[in-house]
Amino acid sequence: MSQPKSTILVTGGAGYIGSHAVLALTKAGYEVIVLDNLSYGHQELVEEVLKVKLIVGDIEDRALLDRLFATYNITAVMHFAAYIAVGESVSHPDKYYRNNVTGTLTLLEAMVAAAIDKLVFSSSCALYGIPKSIPLVEDHPQDPISPYAKTKWMVEQILDDFDRAYGLHSVSFRYFNAAGADPSGLLGEDHIPETHLIPLVLFAALGKLNSVSIFGTDYDTIDGTCIRDYIHVVDLAQAHVLGLEYLLNGGNSTAFNLGNGSGFSVRELIKTAEEVTGKEIKIVEGDRRSGDPPVLVGSSDKAKRVLGWYPQYPSLRDILAHAWQWHQQRHGQTHLPHLQVSR
Ligand SMILES: NC(=O)c1ccc[n+]([C@@H]2O[C@H](COP(=O)([O-])OP(=O)(O)OC[C@H]3O[C@@H](n4cnc5c(N)ncnc54)[C@H](O)[C@@H]3O)[C@@H](O)[C@H]2O)c1
Repeated sequence: MSQPKSTILVTGGAGYIGSHAVLALTKAGYEVIVLDNLSYGHQELVEEVLKVKLIVGDIEDRALLDRLFATYNITAVMHFAAYIAVGESVSHPDKYYRNNVTGTLTLLEAMVAAAIDKLVFSSSCALYGIPKSIPLVEDHPQDPISPYAKTKWMVEQILDDFDRAYGLHSVSFRYFNAAGADPSGLLGEDHIPETHLIPLVLFAALGKLNSVSIFGTDYDTIDGTCIRDYIHVVDLAQAHVLGLEYLLNGGNSTAFNLGNGSGFSVRELIKTAEEVTGKEIKIVEGDRRSGDPPVLVGSSDKAKRVLGWYPQYPSLRDILAHAWQWHQQRHGQTHLPHLQVSR
């Protein structure tokens, strides 16, 4: 039997993208330890589906991090733990700066103290702000609008400084819209409250929501609705393994966009969801939301060139079909508590 590879700490591994990364890491032969405070994560996904060690705790708990790094021989950290609701970050910026920035700083300090010098970070295309050109490339000017986006921007600045000062190497992945679910149907997106378009559309298909709101129908796009770049979560997870291996092979700190390179309008997405699910999805047309750019589409050429990453599931139909399979088994029988629609 071959020896297990290095041990990777995955913060936020009980969440949506982190759990898919844990699966990709274990498939690639890595040992994984998940650190998650379960504020939004799902214990059973880690312990019963992924069957890896879960440490229930907070990235802000320095004593816990010191114990963890002293106990396990951790080679690198994949850092997904964060709060993610853009709208809430506007009404409660303190919550976001504390968790996403101070929490990350605590994690980085503990890593430096334990001489762990490799980190893969979940950043976001939100740090570009309103695009000046499409597709967005990594050196597009950065002008984050929401406190959430600012937390991602700040952490990237901190990572630059930690590289210079302490030699901590990092890869920041700037995701576009993460979507879909593992094709096994065992893992998927389960945010409470849910704010992302694809799950909301599928909740409407399941009859858990009466309708889906479209915010703005008068944009200068093919059908007046916003265009977004949806990237399959399995492709994101695979990129994380490649990003980790880039660092393990001595790669320098850098940032990569992770997107599909093609955009779909909200109406196109809903129409495709109707075809995939065979259900009619009622829509309610509303006003534009401030800060919503008409088009957000990224170029992932750098990740392709440097990491050799190629999306395996670029089709919107596959993304929706995998998400539908997950939502049917996860939510088909039960009512969703406290469902709120924000952004
Ligand atoms: N979902 C997207 O489309 C998207 C897009 C861009 C970037 N991101 C980033 O990707 C990462 C993962 O997003 P997700 O959609 O999987 O979110 P998620 O809420 O499903 O997962 C985040 C996990 O982190 C945990 N967590 C939060 N704060 C913590 C803390 N202080 N200590 C320990 N655990 C903590 C939560 O319990 C949860 O399990 C986040 O950093 C997010 O900002 C997501």
